[in-house]
Amino acid sequence: MELTDIADDLAATLYTEQQIQDKIEELAKRIDADYAGEKLLLVGVLKGAVMVMADLARALTLPIEMDWMAVSSYGSGTQSSGVVRILKDLDTDLTGRKVLIVEDIIDSGLTLSWLRANLSSRGAESVEICALLRKPDAAKVVVDVKYAGFEIANEFVIGYGLDYADKYRNLRGIGVLAPHIYAS
Ligand code: XMP
Ligand code: MG
Repeated sequence: MELTDIADDLAATLYTEQQIQDKIEELAKRIDADYAGEKLLLVGVLKGAVMVMADLARALTLPIEMDWMAVSSYGSGTQSSGVVRILKDLDTDLTGRKVLIVEDIIDSGLTLSWLRANLSSRGAESVEICALLRKPDAAKVVVDVKYAGFEIANEFVIGYGLDYADKYRNLRGIGVLAPHIYAS
């Protein structure tokens, strides 16, 4: 699905498919260089990171393994609380592993800071983060994101895995959701 297919639901276009792919290539090159000769485990955070994971994994020339986690953060409405519950855990033993968490977006940072601490506590040798988008103005905790894609304003964005009420994940680009959608 293209951004133009849902133009009425968008306040703005943020990134086209090509801009996203270029950014992912750039991140992949850095990751390839940093982990050359290593056995890297990519951990995708369901469901939003599915597209980033699929494209990043294929852009890498490193041999990688993939695993997935699903988490939900307790809190009211759209506010993340930092209290995180695991809905689906990893299948992989992290002892001695080099782990790269793959995320779509960092908002308050609470989910990722919890996740990094959780994965580190399982004996991983290293835990780094790759996130396609980041909202610096929304940060409540400082999260060291080694591989960060685009910095965006504090607006609700959709597409390329990001949803509103589980819709719009299959958009090829990323856009800002029009306020009339969440007001209705
Ligand atoms: P925190 O606040 O803990 O939460 O960093 C990050 C998670 O919140 C979701 N999120 C969004 N999802 N458009 C979305 O579709 C957005 O603009 C947005 N901001 C935050 C997302 O699930 C992310 O993993
Ligand atoms: Mg997410």
